[in-house]
Amino acid sequence: MKGIILAGGSATRLYPLSKAISKQIMPVYDKPMIYYPLSTLMLAGIREVLIISTPRDLPMFEELLGDGSRIGMKLEYKVQLVPNGLAQAFVLGKDFLNGEPGCLILGDNMFYGQHFGHMLKDAVASAQAGGACIFGYEVADPRAYGVVEFDGDGKVLSLEEKPEHPKSNYAVPGLYFYDKTVCEKAAGLQPSARGEYEITDLNKLYLNEGTLKVKLFSRGFAWLDTGNCDSLLEAGNFIATIQNRQGFYVSCIEEIAYRNGWITADHLAALGKEMKTAYGRYLERVAEKGF
Ligand code: G1P
Repeated sequence: MKGIILAGGSATRLYPLSKAISKQIMPVYDKPMIYYPLSTLMLAGIREVLIISTPRDLPMFEELLGDGSRIGMKLEYKVQLVPNGLAQAFVLGKDFLNGEPGCLILGDNMFYGQHFGHMLKDAVASAQAGGACIFGYEVADPRAYGVVEFDGDGKVLSLEEKPEHPKSNYAVPGLYFYDKTVCEKAAGLQPSARGEYEITDLNKLYLNEGTLKVKLFSRGFAWLDTGNCDSLLEAGNFIATIQNRQGFYVSCIEEIAYRNGWITADHLAALGKEMKTAYGRYLERVAEKGF
């Protein structure tokens, strides 16, 4: 399975913060926002990733992450000229996926919780076997999201994008696993009333085909939003609280690469030495202590 991070858009809800810089490069406490979705893909065991962004912002991601070899990965980059919907990731990413199953994560979606790696690996296996696997997360107000409705037996009844009157409180986070038919399905979509190729319409194709699985995140699991100044600050404070209490870093891509066996302890220590910060010292400490 390969991964795609969609890090485009103009993030107007963060103006003037995001006027001259990509939202997904902004700090969430001690690291750029894109580290968080990238680490999710890494925890899923995905090693080849395509990053899609605007012509203005793409060079910055390339400067930040390069070809990925420093963390034992293979990263590629693709421009999205017009921000015309999330499902376009699978039109732009067709050559990259080259007939393989694909996982899409939105560049501003952050996840944190126990057993997340297991859930991700299950989702990979499920999509590899055929169909799509997405998630549901209970929120107080789901109107800004895709919303999934279930019957009493947990069977999916409907999917709606940003409904005014949601049929449930289950929002669909921006993390989607698809089988190898995804590019073909995405290519056949029509734009919605707001002119976008909607990810929810792509998911509906799988639902109608009877091959859509929805896994639920449990109470206490964190799916964080970074859409406005308050939620961005809250996300940063959340990460700081967790990290400073236990001393383990959240979404530290170098550490995950090491624990995945993609880089050696010596290499991790060398990456740490390059940075004269607490982050750098942490990498050296992990390299020294091992597992
Ligand atoms: C997008 C999707 C929506 C999903 C959300 C998750 O909305 O269209 O279905 O629930 O991401 O972050 P956006 O936030 O891009 O408006």
